[in-house]
Order: sequence, then structure tokens, then C-alpha cells
Amino acid sequence: MKSPYIMAPMAGITNRPFRLIVKQFGAAMVTSEMVSAMGLMVGQTRTLDYLRSAPEERPFCVQLFGSDPDVMARAAEKVIESGADVIDINMGCPARKVVKTGSGGALLLDWRKAERIVRAVRLVSPLPLTVKIRAGWSPTHGKTLELASALENSGADAVTVHPRFVTQGFSGIPDWRLIEQIKSRVSVPVIGNGDVFSPHLAIKMREETGCDGVMVARGALGNPWIFQQALDLDQGRIPSDPAPLERKHLIMKHYHLLSDEMGERRAAFHFRGLLLRYTKGLPHSGLFRRSIEQVKDLQSLVGTMDGYFSSMEADGP
Ligand SMILES: Cc1cc2nc3c(=O)[nH]c(=O)nc-3n(C[C@H](O)[C@H](O)[C@H](O)COP(=O)(O)O)c2cc1C
Repeated sequence: MKSPYIMAPMAGITNRPFRLIVKQFGAAMVTSEMVSAMGLMVGQTRTLDYLRSAPEERPFCVQLFGSDPDVMARAAEKVIESGADVIDINMGCPARKVVKTGSGGALLLDWRKAERIVRAVRLVSPLPLTVKIRAGWSPTHGKTLELASALENSGADAVTVHPRFVTQGFSGIPDWRLIEQIKSRVSVPVIGNGDVFSPHLAIKMREETGCDGVMVARGALGNPWIFQQALDLDQGRIPSDPAPLERKHLIMKHYHLLSDEMGERRAAFHFRGLLLRYTKGLPHSGLFRRSIEQVKDLQSLVGTMDGYFSSMEADGP
């Protein structure tokens, strides 16, 4: 693997435009939003749409969620047909609507079923198969150390570990030591995940845990540069933040990709969200963010953005 830094699956976020952007900055692999195995089975158009990818995204991983081994295997066949490169199985999603169907994080309550799912998908799929787990369901249910080994024995080619319990959601601090413990227990590659919000933390996770790859989710929101910055650090270069003009151009590129994907009207609807994400933490961004609250149409939003970035250019570094 050239780069060990991987873009995480994020429902509602890791659509094709987003994936193309992070790929541009060196993400080793990009992952779809989580895709319902049942939705694929019954041929829901919207669900099938999640499988579409562009050649520039490759290697492209599709993440499946589901609770029935047969349905997961049939869905995997559809993923293979679609031309994806890797299949990932979601065993960590804490969302109620997912958990109540026995999928996602609920599989950490039923290890036998989790193993059966991996075996069923392994049987039909020659593609690399990865599994994304959490630390466990809850502290009282014990940790997924042994599950990781069991999933390896069932046919998983790599394990991604987000070391929070499902019941924690996103609260608390992920216990990176679990990534290290799982790494020392399994022989397949282990990908660490959780609270990597800067390139320095990406390096720190690799050093502290010995993980083979680092998966970044929220840290790439508004900062797709994080992948390049981590690679820079690896190569002894001091990572730099993008200049205001570069940031502005990226926002417009992201907007145009969205527009190609979903049409101008819907893309315009997302533009304010893009601006909020890409300006978080920048100088005077509070003022800028408040000023765009009132602005309704795309043209005025672009104008306000131009003004903001020009003033930053004028202020200098
Ligand atoms: C908005 C959002 C959507 C997410 N969607 C998914 C998903 O579809 N599948 C999945 O396995 N994890 C999903 N996650 C979890 C992330 O992939 C990742 O495990 C978690 O955010 C921890 O990594 P981070 O600290 O780098 O954000 C999502 C997280 C967020 C914030």
C-alpha cells in the first residue's frame, strides 16, 4: 500500500464528489456510505446508486450492513458485479434504526452471527474482505479482542478497529490500546480509527499502536488535505495548510462535482454546508459564518465567499 491513510465510510458524506476530493489528496482507499444489503437485494434504485464509482476513485470499497448471512452474500454478489474493489462489513454503527434490525453495532452482541456473515460473504467473494468493528457493545459485554481473531478465522482479510463501545456513540475517548492489542493478536492487517483530527495524530496512532493503516473520518471534513499532510510528515516534510485561494478553489471544485452528481439545484442547497465545513477554525470564520446565514442564493454566497477569502489573502499568512 503506497499510503496507509484511508478515508472512512460516512453515511450522508462519503458520496462520489467527496471521495474524489480526498482521493486527490492521497487517500489510499475510499469507502462508500454504508449500503443496506437488503436494499440491494430488493433492487432499491437509491441503494443501487451507492455502488456507482468513478475510475479515479479506485481502489473503491463498498461497505455493507445487514444481519442475515444469506442476504449479505447476495448483496456481496451485486457489489462484485458493480466493479468495486473491496467489500467491508459494518459491525459498529450505533444508529438505532440500524441496530434494531440486528445490523451494524448489534452484531457485537451476537458474535456467532458476525462470524457467519463473514463466512457467507467470503464464500461468494474473491474480493478483499474487511470488517469494521468497535471496542464492543458496552464495557459490560467485554471487548472485541477475541472477535477480531474469530473474524480473521472466518475469512476477513483485514480488520478496522474504532475503539469506542457501540453504547458510547461518539462520546468519550477512543482507547487506542485496543488497536495495539488486536494488532498483536491477529495476523491480517489492522486499520486503526478514532479521533485522528490532524496529520500528527495519524502518525501518533501508527507509532503507538503499530497499526498497518489509519482510517480518518471526521478529521477529513473540511480538511481533505489531512491525507497529504500525513504523507508529508512521513517523508520528513513539514505539512502546510492550504493557502486561502487554494481552499476557495477546492470549495468550488467540490461544488461543481456535486452539481455534476446531483444537478445544480440540489448542489446549491449543499453549498452553504460546504462553506461551513471548509472554513471551520479559520481566522474570522465566526463572522463569515454568521454573514452567510442571511444569504439565500448561490451567487451571493459565492460573492460573500470571494470577499472573505480575498481579505484573508490580503492579511497574508
Ligand atoms: C456523519 C458520520 C457518518 C458515519 N457513517 C458511517 C458509516 O456509514 N459506516 C461506518 O462504518 N462508520 C460510519 N461512521 C463512523 C466513522 O467511519 C468512524 O468510525 C468514526 O467517526 C470514528 O472516526 P473519526 O474519529 O476519525 O471520526 C460515521 C461517522 C460520522 C461522523
